[in-house]
Amino acid sequence: MATLRATTVSQGRVAVSSRRVSVVVRADGQINPSIRKSEEKVADFVKASELPKPKAVFCRCWRAEKFPYCDGAHLKHNKETGDNVGPLVIDTAAAAPASQ
Ligand code: FES
Repeated sequence: MATLRATTVSQGRVAVSSRRVSVVVRADGQINPSIRKSEEKVADFVKASELPKPKAVFCRCWRAEKFPYCDGAHLKHNKETGDNVGPLVIDTAAAAPASQ
């Protein structure tokens, strides 16, 4: 177990015990700063057969210029905010498990 010191969480709560630090961050407002804001809900559908090979990398930080695909924008966001977000990586080269 890592020992952490929590000092500030701007939009969340920090709970500290003597040995363990648990940080819960809750967004007070919108998490999507700019992507397709005119849409009621941003949802994307990708056919499994059309996923990029060997990996499909999807954005979860809502800052990618190529949304829904990750373009590395999370690195800048994490550096600026201290956040730790990263993409969803789907290994499309991995063999599917055998059906039972
Ligand atoms: S750019 Fe958003 S997770 Fe990478």
